[in-house]
Amino acid sequence: MELFHHIKSVRDALGKARAAGKTVGFVPTMGNLHNAHLALVQQAKQHCDVVIVSIFVNRLQFGLNEDWDKYPRTLQNDAAKLREIGCDYLFCPEEGEVYPNGMDAQTRVIVPSMANVLCGASRPGHFEGVTTVVTKLFNIVQPDIAVFGIKDYQQLAIIRRMVEDLCIPVEIMAGDIVREADGLAMSSRNGFITAQERPRANQLNQSLNWVKQAILDGRRDFDVLESEAKKQIEMAGFRPDYLSISNSKTLEPAANDDTDITVLGAMYTEAARLIDNVSLSVVN
Ligand code: PAJ
Repeated sequence: MELFHHIKSVRDALGKARAAGKTVGFVPTMGNLHNAHLALVQQAKQHCDVVIVSIFVNRLQFGLNEDWDKYPRTLQNDAAKLREIGCDYLFCPEEGEVYPNGMDAQTRVIVPSMANVLCGASRPGHFEGVTTVVTKLFNIVQPDIAVFGIKDYQQLAIIRRMVEDLCIPVEIMAGDIVREADGLAMSSRNGFITAQERPRANQLNQSLNWVKQAILDGRRDFDVLESEAKKQIEMAGFRPDYLSISNSKTLEPAANDDTDITVLGAMYTEAARLIDNVSLSVVN
């Protein structure tokens, strides 16, 4: 696996691969890689000749009081894991390389329709930071396919929309949510969960599944289901951020006769904010 820190060297290497007729798969990450990230890399490998992963803890998508400084940086381990599964290229740029004119002056990409609800409501500016850096990474890498996890459902939906709206020539592929045995979605932030909290940390997933089953059983009192699920999370000792029964496509609150529904939620543990979602199809 070749490791790059500079845009020019990535462009040169990928330019050669493309000139040799190879297709390029891309998995953008912020590092501290776990099995879910590796599954995205495997998925990219199945569909492309060469695969590139980026690791960049993008300060532009973190709020001022969020965990950018605490975010785990484990480059040596990450590189070893990627090498082991046959990743071809790893791109780890410095902040100055990504934002040469500073972050405040950086040209932004905004997806107005979906960026201010759900996670966007509690993390103002977050998705603007994501769409801006992902656009830059797409322009650097110019992949044929880019793979994003369904765990970050809203992020995936926003990136799909951005690619459509800006005619970016990349196919966005979705990777299934990878979970621990008890249902907790894998996340680089799970390392912030305390030992006392850990046995109950799957509560978000349990409550999302409880809502899903209730809808499948015919309940349509979505407001009540949302507040009951939030109560369950409180009872387990966590602070719910939001829990929303949404239209899978628009991410607006689901209507009673919607057929494709995604239940999304976020909750705070002592030192982390965790997110998860489950989707369902309803036959009316
Ligand atoms: P990061 O949180 O490192 O996630 C990188 C990719 O891994 C994302 O597409 C995310 O959805 C996926 N992922 C993480 N945990 C997952 C799980 N349990 N199951 C399935 N997929 C999972 O998301 C980001 O980084 C950043 O916002 C980024 C897109 C790199 C832009 O900075």
